[in-house]
Amino acid sequence: MALEFDPLHWPEDAQTVVEFLTASEWPCHGVPLLSRTDAAKVSVVANDTATFWIRNGAETVGLIRLLDLDDLDVGSPLFDLRIAQGHRGRGVGRQAVRWLTDHLFTTFPELHRIEARTRDDNQAMLSSVRSLRVAAGRPICRGLDEL
Ligand SMILES: CC(C)(COP(=O)(O)OP(=O)(O)OC[C@H]1O[C@@H](n2cnc3c(N)ncnc32)[C@H](O)[C@@H]1OP(=O)(O)O)[C@@H](O)C(=O)NCCC(=O)NCCS
Repeated sequence: MALEFDPLHWPEDAQTVVEFLTASEWPCHGVPLLSRTDAAKVSVVANDTATFWIRNGAETVGLIRLLDLDDLDVGSPLFDLRIAQGHRGRGVGRQAVRWLTDHLFTTFPELHRIEARTRDDNQAMLSSVRSLRVAAGRPICRGLDEL
């Protein structure tokens, strides 16, 4: 599957974000079923945030939010990865984690660390991160052994 990762356009994409977030259940997030009001409050544009759509051809299959991008030399950006229901378990999440780590380390050479947080029973997310070996052509160290 050849995925593409397109930057979100704001404010043109505002309604599409709400449609995307309300169309699926997010069982490992704080609010698994978002109302339209909740969805509209999910921050996708800010000085320290970059958001990308994941496309498979003409279909939008996921959303990536890169967060905490304001103190890269000392901090560690986080990401929020959401694959639409019906597209999970087909390798999209794994490809997206690979893309976003490459993107971050390539775009921000001063970056030394990315943080991934998820629930300890979110096996798909844990496996997506565990399968990473290389980012931006460099081997990566992981602190996942305690999970
Ligand atoms: C978590 C998520 C991003 C993973 O993406 P995905 O496209 O479903 O996962 P993939 O198909 O790429 O599979 C990645 C790995 O997880 C495993 N996996 C996939 N679905 C699984 C499931 N339901 N249970 C256990 N393992 C699973 C795959 O076998 C694969 O492991 P491998 O690399 O060892 O072969 C996606 O399921 C999702 O968006 N879930 C809801 C939102 C969420 O929880 N986001 C993360 C919050 S931090």
